[in-house]
This record gives sequence, C-alpha cells and structure tokens, in this order.
Amino acid sequence: MDRDNIYGHISRILITEEEIREKVREAGRMITEEYRGRPLLLVSILNGAFMFMADICRQVKTPCEIAFMSVKSYQGDSTTGNVQIVQDIKRDISGYHVVIIEDIMDTGLTLRAVTDILRGRNPLSLKIVTLLDKPERRIADIRPDYALFTIPNLFVIGYGLDYNEAYRELPYIAEYSA
Ligand code: XMP
Ligand code: MG
Repeated sequence: MDRDNIYGHISRILITEEEIREKVREAGRMITEEYRGRPLLLVSILNGAFMFMADICRQVKTPCEIAFMSVKSYQGDSTTGNVQIVQDIKRDISGYHVVIIEDIMDTGLTLRAVTDILRGRNPLSLKIVTLLDKPERRIADIRPDYALFTIPNLFVIGYGLDYNEAYRELPYIAEYSA
C-alpha cells in the first residue's frame, strides 16, 4: 500500500461521526432497557470492534462486564470458510446474558462460528449487536439481533474497520476505493 497517499483511497464518507453517535446512543438505550437488573457481559471481537465497544459500553446505563476475543477467518476455495480462535475469552460466561458486539457482519461465517462456541458454554442468553450489516454477502444462515446500519456490498473502512490494518482510527465510516 502507498502509505504516503493513504487518504487518497477514501472515496466517500458513508456514515458520519454524528450518525454513528446517534445510532450508538439508541443501541445503548435498547441494551439498557433489555438487560437492566440482569447480569450482562458484552463480548467484542478484536480488532475491528474495539471502537464500537468503547463507545457502546459507555451508553449502556446498567452495570455490565466486558470481554474480548480475537478470531481469524480463512476463506478457502469453497464457501464454507474456516474460523479459528486466536485469543479466547478467559472467563466463565454461564450466569451471564451475553451480547456480542461486532463491527460488521458480512458472510456471517465468523459470527456463526463464534455463536456456536459461546452457546456451548451455556450463557443465560446470547444476542448479536453489529454496527454494520452487509446482508447481500450472507452465506451462513444467521441474522444479527440488532444492526445499527445496513449497508450495500461495498468495502468499508474507518471506525475500527481496516484495509491492511490501516484506517481503523478514522472517526467515520467510508468506502474504500483501490
Ligand atoms: P464474515 O464474512 O465472517 O466476516 O461475516 C466478518 C469480518 O470480515 C471483515 N470484513 C470487513 N472488514 N471492511 C472491513 O474492514 C469491510 O467492508 C468488511 N467486510 C467484512 C471484518 O473483519 C469482519 O469482522
Ligand atoms: Mg472483525
């Protein structure tokens, strides 16, 4: 990548900082209402969801705990994909209502694998909140419980999302153009 002209690849801003802030507040309110008075654990998938997690947990106005995991997805020739846990959460999740905080749901293969693993650990309940949903690309039979934004089939960067590890720090979501 030409790092001297890194911003030359931002073709247009799709979702502004203000739009993100407003939707994150709304999602925070929804989580607060649903889980008030119940043991709540937010589980986020690194690296992409770090910024979303930091913002949304501050909008959850009921006590919650936080955990991170890291996964890698390998897409072979077939459409089945293969998801590997790089860093697991190091704690018991039984006794908690678990909400997965994800950056983007694309084929759905990552969250299919992650929800299968977490469900096997007997949480009180398990839901998925994703910042972005790209339903056109779905392969796995899985839907988020809550998506803040539904987007068309574009490659997006910013607000935690990267292209070759660049652009995560942008406060907005943009379309990447090669
Ligand atoms: P699946 O396909 O398993 O994958 O739902 C989700 C993961 O794929 C990455 N991904 C993207 N990353 N811009 C990105 O920066 C995109 O448009 C995009 N689409 C998918 C991302 O890591 C996500 O967790
Ligand atoms: Mg990700």
